[in-house]
Amino acid sequence: MTQEKTTNITWHHGKITREDRVGLMKQKGVTVWLTGLSGAGKSTIAVELEHALLDNGHQAYILDGDNIRHGLNKNLGFSPEDRSENIRRIGEVARLFTDANIVTITAFISPYREDRERARALQKDGEFVEVYVKCPIEVCEKRDTKGLYKKARSGEVKEFTGISAPYEEPLKPEITIDTSIATVEESTRRILGYLEDKGHIKFA
Ligand code: ADX
Repeated sequence: MTQEKTTNITWHHGKITREDRVGLMKQKGVTVWLTGLSGAGKSTIAVELEHALLDNGHQAYILDGDNIRHGLNKNLGFSPEDRSENIRRIGEVARLFTDANIVTITAFISPYREDRERARALQKDGEFVEVYVKCPIEVCEKRDTKGLYKKARSGEVKEFTGISAPYEEPLKPEITIDTSIATVEESTRRILGYLEDKGHIKFA
């Protein structure tokens, strides 16, 4: 747990409410939290989803593991503590984006159940949609898009999820997509359908 060091602070409220933003933007902000092994297809789905949303006049934004680790979280590695801190920060950022009424798409392995639950607990009911991007590790390893599974097997990359570090499957995700079966288009449509059913977006 991160130690709290800040004292003597007051929360400032603005004049704009969440409802004001919903009325203005014709969408209801939500966090679509993609979780799964490296190479399962989280980033690929995130990119398609964001594109489809923008194409239909919705505001969406991707927070992606590899990208965020270039900046905000560049001081974090892959130990259990660092991964937890990575997800804690992203959970807070996702909460802010959702409050700004954006369809926020996160693509992080987020291997620990407790960390994902903590990110969920920051948000209002129904505004955190956990999507398990499921894919057998053999398939991820065969894809090996970044060559990291090979390096993990040889020991060059340590603490690699699924090989030398754990991945805790979601117990009750809102959506599960098996990317060894479903295409990117099908996966994207599943998520869009869910968001539309729940009133977050409206497709033309
Ligand atoms: S998480 O576990 O903290 O959620 P995150 O999604 O931010 O991970 O970053 C995962 C990405 O970092 C992978 O897609 C991969 O490209 C890269 N990476 C580098 N080293 C590792 C490692 N030891 N385990 C997992 N991913 C790694």
